[in-house]
Amino acid sequence: MSRPPVRLGVNIDHVATVRNARGGVHPDPVRAAEEAIRAGADGITAHLREDRRHIGDADIEALTALCKTAGKPLNFEMAVTDEMLAIALRHRPHAACLVPERREEVTTEGGLAVAGHEATMAPVVRALSDAGIRVSLFIDPSADQVEAAAAVGAQVVEFHTGRYCHLPAGERGVEFDRLAAACAQADGLGLEVHAGHGLDYDTAAEVLAIPEIRELNIGHFLIGEAVFVGLAAAIRRMRGAMEAAQAVTRE
Ligand code: PXP
Repeated sequence: MSRPPVRLGVNIDHVATVRNARGGVHPDPVRAAEEAIRAGADGITAHLREDRRHIGDADIEALTALCKTAGKPLNFEMAVTDEMLAIALRHRPHAACLVPERREEVTTEGGLAVAGHEATMAPVVRALSDAGIRVSLFIDPSADQVEAAAAVGAQVVEFHTGRYCHLPAGERGVEFDRLAAACAQADGLGLEVHAGHGLDYDTAAEVLAIPEIRELNIGHFLIGEAVFVGLAAAIRRMRGAMEAAQAVTRE
């Protein structure tokens, strides 16, 4: 069965991580976003964390303007807090992806607990949706989270692929099946399916064997590769890997 080309959202958070290591203005994540768009990114993803460890408020303002001018979607990753909700409603990005956040974590370690927290999530999803923002929930590939995501009114789920990617290549079968089942369930409930976290050229290609996936969001690996081959080349190679994987699933 054919599907439209899977979109690639490029997460530029770690350009800001490098900038902030010296506290100056270089390298600029907004310039990285421009370069990513020129190289074929379908959208830009940025996470404004509560502690502002990488992306800052001024970056979000500039990224919002850039994406509007370029006609590309900005996917604003945010914790479920009043502060972040107010910022999202002020900037009105194309999409908001609700993620869990703990100050002491190195990165987003697991999916959002939507199941059991529907009463907290539903009003936030509604407020964002009412402002015309597409709401995505970053969840683990489990049946109860998928059901809860649909119940609180999200339009999109992004499955956390971190666990899958951290497994050795020969030991990913069970996790792949879990991811594939969750994708099928979400699609069946009318949710658009995205995936992200920890993906590289190989794992991005592998997960695209799952036909329901419409978008991948990739950051750390691409920014790391940029050190060696440049950001544009890394993005083009990722697009190539994704296209090759989709060509195989079309056969
Ligand atoms: N999607 C979400 C919701 C994330 O929180 C992150 C990490 O910020 C990513 C995708 C990208 O993960 P990575 O940087 O490991 O590619």
